[in-house]
Amino acid sequence: MNIHGIVVAAGSGARFGASKGTVVLGGRALWEWGRDALLAGGAASVVVVGAGGLEGGLRRRDSVARGLAAVPYGASHVLVHDAARPLVTPSLVRRVIDRLAVGDADGVVPAIPVRDTIKRVDGESVVETVERSALVAVQTPQGFLLESLRAAHAADDNDASDDALLIEWWGGTVVMVPGEESNLKITYAGDLSIAEALLP
Ligand code: CTP
Ligand code: MG
Repeated sequence: MNIHGIVVAAGSGARFGASKGTVVLGGRALWEWGRDALLAGGAASVVVVGAGGLEGGLRRRDSVARGLAAVPYGASHVLVHDAARPLVTPSLVRRVIDRLAVGDADGVVPAIPVRDTIKRVDGESVVETVERSALVAVQTPQGFLLESLRAAHAADDNDASDDALLIEWWGGTVVMVPGEESNLKITYAGDLSIAEALLP
C-alpha cells in the first residue's frame, strides 16, 4: 500500500464564523493536528487544501478534487480528512488503513453509535422516531482505493457532505470501523472550547 493523505481546510465556515483554515487550537492550526496524525498513522505524504496550501474549491467535494489531482504518482490509497477534526489520533488512522488493507472495500469510514434518540421533524412537529440501532455518525479520516475515489468523483457532480457518499452513488462498497468519541468536528464556535478541553 502506498497511502497518501488529503486534509481539506478550505470553505467559508459559515456556521463557525471563519474558515477552518484560519482556526487555531492549542497554538497550532487545525490542519496541522490532522496532518501530523495522518503522517504518524501511516500516510506517506499529506497535501493540505486551503489554509495556504492548494487552493480550495467552492464545495467540500471540489476541495477534495483539488487534493486528488495532487496525489503523487504511485499512490494506491488515499485518506481524506477534515481539518475540522483536529483531535483524530494516529491509532484511528491506523485502524482505517488496516481495514483498507483487507482489500474488499472501496471505502472505509470511522463511525460511532448514535447516543441520542433521533426524531424526524417537520418544523416544530415531531413526525417519527427513527430506529437508532441501525444508525451511526460518520467521521473522517475516510480511506479509499485511489482509483475508486477518482472514478466516484468523475461519475457525478452532485454535492456530497462526505466522500463515502460519492462512493455509494457510484455503486461502490463502503465499510465502517469504530471511530472515536473524542474525534469531534468543529462546526460551531462553541466546539472549539470543547476541543481545547480534550487536548492531549
Ligand atoms: N471544506 C473545504 N472546502 C469547502 C468546504 C469545506 O475544504 N469548500 C472543508 C472544511 O475546511 C472542513 C471540512 O471541509 O475541514 C468540513 O466542512 P465544514 O465543517 O462544513 O466547513 P465549511 O463548509 O467551511 O463550514 P460551513 O458548512 O459552516 O460553511
Ligand atoms: Mg460545509
